[in-house]
Amino acid sequence: MRHLISIEDLDREGIERIVDQARRFAEVSDREIKKVPALRGRMVLNLFYEASTRTRSSFELAAKRLSADVVNFASSGSSVEKGESLKDTILTLGAHKPDAIVIRTPWAGAAALVSRWTDAAIVNAGDGKHEHPTQALLDVYTLKSRFGDLDDANVWIVGDVAHSRVARSNILAFQKMGAKVTVAGPPTLIPRNIEALGCEVRYRLDDLAQADVVYALRMQKERMTEAWVPSMREYATWYQINGRRLGSRQILMHPGPVNRGIELSGEVVDSPQAAIVAQVEAGVVVRMAVLYELLSGARATEPAPNDMEPQPA
Ligand code: CP
Repeated sequence: MRHLISIEDLDREGIERIVDQARRFAEVSDREIKKVPALRGRMVLNLFYEASTRTRSSFELAAKRLSADVVNFASSGSSVEKGESLKDTILTLGAHKPDAIVIRTPWAGAAALVSRWTDAAIVNAGDGKHEHPTQALLDVYTLKSRFGDLDDANVWIVGDVAHSRVARSNILAFQKMGAKVTVAGPPTLIPRNIEALGCEVRYRLDDLAQADVVYALRMQKERMTEAWVPSMREYATWYQINGRRLGSRQILMHPGPVNRGIELSGEVVDSPQAAIVAQVEAGVVVRMAVLYELLSGARATEPAPNDMEPQPA
């Protein structure tokens, strides 16, 4: 794998390899010194043109735990505000010779475009409504930690599918891992022809009890340029995952940030079924595994012995 732009860049074996490596890195996270020398001397550039809490902090932590040098760039406060283009920004920061560029933008296709302007490995940290592949990988990791494997697991992805990059990456990733995926939401928020990705479509939650996993999506108000639902209250009435709709044996997931009281009620966010914090925790080790896969040059099933060495205090 040269870049990670889409879940399409990985087959099931590739996803399993990253998840297995992430598990090895989870052991590092339990050490007193949470660091290995695997990417010493490598440089990771985190380029964020859009707000982020989880993805940005976990990529920074992941690169640091691998001993890489990290440069964090946010478009706000940079020369982007003076009109510098994405291409010129990449060419400028490329002068520092990054080995990997982690990029989040509001523009679908931007990560693929950037891969043409630099020799660095590109990791798509979310490009508009297109994809968010590391979110899908950390969600697979989280579910495999609970179920062992995802074969025949029944996953319902509920809510604003139309504006969601997470939905697209997760439909693809969960299905590659053998799960059956259903997307559910109001007709205005379910893209036409989404069935072409292999999932089923429901416009009501009457059969939600069939799900082993309820994956709620955020109502992406910032990407809605017109009224896609009559009101948020109306949406919540029909589609909110709450204590009445979530069964006690079901796992609840959400990529964050959560709109409490809209797509999820407060009680389910704080319930034992919620895996939302586990998803964030998985983000660091899975992103370590992605950076390691792209930059270590090693494609072996086991890491080089020195890569995982404990570091002196
Ligand atoms: N899930 C996710 O991408 O969250 P952030 O926008 O906080 O990075």
